[in-house]
Amino acid sequence: MERETKKDRTYAIGLIPGDGTGPEVVTEGVKVLEAISNRFGVGFQFTAFDLGGETYMRDGTLLPDPVVEQLRSLDALFLGAIGHPDVKPGILERGILLQLRFALDLYINLRPVVLFPGVFTPLKNKMPEDIDFIVIRENSEGMYAGGGGFFKKGTPDEVALQESVNTRKGVERCVRYAYEYCRKRDRKKHLTLCAKTNVLAYESDLWYRVFQELHDSYPDVEIDYQHVDALCMWMIKNPEQFDVIVTNNLFGDIITDIGAIIQGGMGIAAGGNINPEGNAMFEPIGGSAPKYTGLGKINPMAAISAVQMMLDYLGEDTAAQAVLAAIKKVVKNDLQSLSAGRMGYSTSEVGDLVVRALTG
Ligand code: IPM
Ligand code: MG
Repeated sequence: MERETKKDRTYAIGLIPGDGTGPEVVTEGVKVLEAISNRFGVGFQFTAFDLGGETYMRDGTLLPDPVVEQLRSLDALFLGAIGHPDVKPGILERGILLQLRFALDLYINLRPVVLFPGVFTPLKNKMPEDIDFIVIRENSEGMYAGGGGFFKKGTPDEVALQESVNTRKGVERCVRYAYEYCRKRDRKKHLTLCAKTNVLAYESDLWYRVFQELHDSYPDVEIDYQHVDALCMWMIKNPEQFDVIVTNNLFGDIITDIGAIIQGGMGIAAGGNINPEGNAMFEPIGGSAPKYTGLGKINPMAAISAVQMMLDYLGEDTAAQAVLAAIKKVVKNDLQSLSAGRMGYSTSEVGDLVVRALTG
């Protein structure tokens, strides 16, 4: 959901190119924003932040508090990717990406799953009209909130505990956002709760109760409930049934990878981390792809889709729609495939094609 357009239409954008192919795709996203600013009279002031594996290996820096404060003052953030092959898995992800989500309380993770015309989906006989829904993933709690510990670590009697944190406030603000979003999207007005009430007797019970209670305020929205395992199956078999899905952090992480592959893969999938009352950060959801780093082979379309979501969030509707139209045009008419190295063009050529489609 977008905010009011700023009167002067000049936006301070924080860039976090990050690791691997992150910088390459951020460059293309910025190229598109610059083309937008020429055509639509919008201004962007970019500030780049040097966060990621290289910085961490150089001086141990992950996400310092003063940087968080600086990021907080900006209108929107654009992140490339976090994750480095020479750093133990988890350190950068938790220390930077998840920490950004927590520190800025970006409690909504918005992940559209849309199949554009001309894009290959591994689902047989599914058309663009069949794959058009959005996942609203809770982004600040659940299994990601990190409670737990070891007991007798490294011994045969070892115990590992991993807790899921679900607060009434946290669940409610996410579910309410989902109802509002569903109403505003005005497509099928159908909201699905994804949980696991048959096993997670406490966590899913809270989600289910909140979902039912809030429905009283949204009688125009039709609701249904699905267990996460069944929902994974239905996303493959009958994706056309979905409109808006709301779920917790971990289930949202998992089902949006299925979402990404059925919409054409990591080359196109983007997401927004949003605090509707505060900051927002947009990202391609594919990761740092170390094996493609610096080769100009990665598809920047996911990053450009993230830019489109950012414009939408900033309330620059006309610009957002123009970028969306340009993305659709290029994927349909120009790209041979959305996969890295198989697009028929280099990373920067794909950015150029989008700019041409925007301005030509
Ligand atoms: C995502 C990613 C992250 C997550 C990882 C990199 C920590 O998979 O944004 O979906 O689990 O949230
Ligand atoms: Mg994920």
